[in-house]
Amino acid sequence: MSKKQVKLGKGAYGQVELKGGKAVKKFKKLSHLVQEWTAGIFLKYEGTEHTIHPLSFDLKSLEITMKAYNTNLRKILDKGISEEDKRLYLKKLLEGLVELQDLNLVHADIKPSNLLVGKGDDKKHLIIGDLGFVSHVGFSKVERTAEAYREKYDMSNGFGHDMYSVGVIMLELFSEDEKCTREKECTKHVKDKVISSLIIRLFHETPDKRPRAREMMKELGYPCNENVRKNKSKIYPTVKELEKEKDFMDGICNSFEIKRKEYGFMALNTYLKEHTEGKDGKDAKGSEGKSEKKDGKDGKGKKDRKKKDKGKKDERKKEKNVKNYIVATVFILSSVFGRSSIDIKSLLEKGKVSERKFMKSLEKLLNSRTFVCNIMEPSI
Ligand SMILES: Nc1ncnc2c1ncn2[C@@H]1O[C@H](COP(=O)(O)OP(=O)(O)O)[C@@H](O)[C@H]1O
Ligand SMILES: [Mg+2]
Repeated sequence: MSKKQVKLGKGAYGQVELKGGKAVKKFKKLSHLVQEWTAGIFLKYEGTEHTIHPLSFDLKSLEITMKAYNTNLRKILDKGISEEDKRLYLKKLLEGLVELQDLNLVHADIKPSNLLVGKGDDKKHLIIGDLGFVSHVGFSKVERTAEAYREKYDMSNGFGHDMYSVGVIMLELFSEDEKCTREKECTKHVKDKVISSLIIRLFHETPDKRPRAREMMKELGYPCNENVRKNKSKIYPTVKELEKEKDFMDGICNSFEIKRKEYGFMALNTYLKEHTEGKDGKDAKGSEGKSEKKDGKDGKGKKDRKKKDKGKKDERKKEKNVKNYIVATVFILSSVFGRSSIDIKSLLEKGKVSERKFMKSLEKLLNSRTFVCNIMEPSI
């Protein structure tokens, strides 16, 4: 890693620095890192083109590394922007929101400083950054949206919440009175009638009446692909280690008011099916093979006992392992879908697992594509 560190920006939740040509966001809380990573890596796997994609994470230093962008829309707006660029950036913002909405996600912090601009030679490339509040439409952290970009009345966690923020940004882009960029009445300073009538609709008091990103693209005459996503998750029968610990998982989820626990169960089940079971199956076969070889030397009874003892030990180890994974899954669910982060200490106490084991399982789950995709499964 390069010694040279340049500060790229600072928000309420993290500090971003340029290290070795990459942007590194440092978090204060583990749950914030887990939330942002899970949402970001899911978007990467889904192949979005207009949202930031994380590259790696480090649970010890609480850092996420991403590709570095040149600037953000706030800085561009403050410097002054051409008419052509205003439309270009609006189009790219809407393209990003179409991608999120197709996946049933709400960003919950759409504002110019979270829109990153300029990648390599493409100075006009705009993507949606800061995935710190991204969640499924029913669980998005709307109350944490910057005040200037959220509705003053009846806040909802639907898609309309982000669309209200788009209305405020459009006023900032298109109002001819620089000071009048927040209120509905400011639309009188917008020359383009299509734009001003869209802003009025984006400020509708009933969130569901606000146009969604795809509808806006159509009305503005921008081409937009149909949603082609297919449900990709596979449903497996429950692996036996997890089946045994179902009550344990239920108990923890209930005591911490965990949302979407059935998706957590499915995600962990798939993970265990692919990893623990497969691997353990092989291991078991391997050790059986070995003891079979020893058969000739050892007495039959002795061998059988040994095998039984080993089997019991393996079983206990596996169950403990599953508990670690369950606690890590609960933590991920609470970080992405919970209203506020849960206390790690009390979670570990409740689950009776060590911090070291928990962190190890957490790291493994966050690095598993199938796990993350099942946790973030868009059908809700
Ligand atoms: N990948 C990046 N490349 C360049 N600058 C970035 C990048 N990510 C964030 N920044 C800068 O850092 C600022 C804060 O980052 P952000 O992710 O919004 O943190 P917070 O969650 O604390 O608001 C952004 O406004 C932006 O200027
Ligand atoms: Mg931010």
